Amino acid sequence: MKAYIRTYGCQMNERDSENIAANFVEKGWTITSVEDEADVIVINTCSVREQAEQKAIGKLSHLLSYRKWQKRNLPIIGVTGCMAQNRGEEIAKALPRIDFIAGPRKTHLVANIAIDIHNKVLQETFSPRERLRKPYIDISDDNTSHLRINKHYNLSKTSNVCAFVSIMQGCQMNCSYCIVPKVRGVMRSRPTDDVVCEVKQLVENGAKEVMLLGQVANAFGREIPAQNGVSEFVRLLQKLNDIDGLERIRFTSPHPSYFRDDLINAYGSLEKLCEYVHLPLQSGSDRILKAMNRPYKSADFLKIVDKLRARSSDMSISTDIIVGYPDETEEDFLQTVEAFKQANFDMAFIFKYSERKGTKSAELNDNISDAIKEDRNQRLLAVLEKQSMDFHNAMIGKTYQVLVESNAKRGENMFMGRTRNHRKCIFKADESYIGKMVNVKVNSATVTALDCEIV
Ligand code: 5AD
Ligand code: SF4
Repeated sequence: MKAYIRTYGCQMNERDSENIAANFVEKGWTITSVEDEADVIVINTCSVREQAEQKAIGKLSHLLSYRKWQKRNLPIIGVTGCMAQNRGEEIAKALPRIDFIAGPRKTHLVANIAIDIHNKVLQETFSPRERLRKPYIDISDDNTSHLRINKHYNLSKTSNVCAFVSIMQGCQMNCSYCIVPKVRGVMRSRPTDDVVCEVKQLVENGAKEVMLLGQVANAFGREIPAQNGVSEFVRLLQKLNDIDGLERIRFTSPHPSYFRDDLINAYGSLEKLCEYVHLPLQSGSDRILKAMNRPYKSADFLKIVDKLRARSSDMSISTDIIVGYPDETEEDFLQTVEAFKQANFDMAFIFKYSERKGTKSAELNDNISDAIKEDRNQRLLAVLEKQSMDFHNAMIGKTYQVLVESNAKRGENMFMGRTRNHRKCIFKADESYIGKMVNVKVNSATVTALDCEIV
């Protein structure tokens, strides 16, 4: 039997999909990348912006209309992830032919639920009519789900050199615009030793790099007291740094409020911790930050950036920005542009504010027109493009260590890998290089990638 899993949204969702896949495989199923041959289709959804929800709904409607013509109404179709949690009942009403709906705290149960329905359909223990009346829904809370998310199956089909590891679930920061705390629950950190064990296992299976994932990754273990000013998160990094065979450690996303000196000092002293930090600023205006319930000022953020840059001249810093938050004035926006330049971000995700029902800011008037949001988006993108290009141009002619990840889409014998500071390098190599560290010289650059040769 075959399952097809389609993922929308963030890396956390990708990781959840890997976990769902691992549970199918454990039960003797295979994972297919061909939708048409699937016995079960899982659509793992995102709710963070409206656009992501619309994409998933479009996909589901298409699947259902196609399935109508199939005998027994196969494949089984399920919806998981944040939109399943947030709008499960609504989806069940609008698309009653869906088989099951399971929230992100039920990730570990998805394969069981799907296989159970599949078996019942095949054995005809419930009639198609009965089945098509209403989906099976499980969106109840589960505050222990973070203890059952350690299984891995590589869905990317490239290499397993870089592995995602979820270190926590949920978020307690309650940024006013964000739906995540509502759909993923309060923050629960995994026990440190479980994470260490999982990483050791991944390294035994060929991983060279790990990306630790959490909504507020650097708040990991915050209920455990710091020792000599060293937080549990930094202690986790220290333990991972000691694992033989592991070469690189990254994490995403940290929150500025938890980015203290112990973490800053880890850069340069833990040799496996890579010089790349994705640190969401959201806005450069203190007034808007306050309205967003982000408990820092633009100047505090810039101080962290300066300290990080002082740790390494190769440091790459990227960010998330929301433009067009309710009441954002041109003046507020210009402060964002100013902070963006001062921080000299070389990569960024810039989002237009999207009102999410159930968040604090949905009570405000979404009063910035789409034209203004779009205009601010474009102006900030132009700044970003210049900064990215400058960052890349400064790398031309220099040599960097790269971990070879996979074939590049760009033609035969071309491979891709990343520098420690997360720049994408394209170079000539062969399959035998995958998983190896090489030194490359940068010959030329575009905004998105570096053209290199192995030296
Ligand atoms: N509108 C626009 N962007 C949002 N984000 C989160 N919620 C919203 C929203 N309602 C962005 C933030 C966050 C990133 C993952 O998505 O910038 O850091
Ligand atoms: Fe959302 Fe803020 Fe939590 Fe990030 S820190 S997941 S933006 S509430």
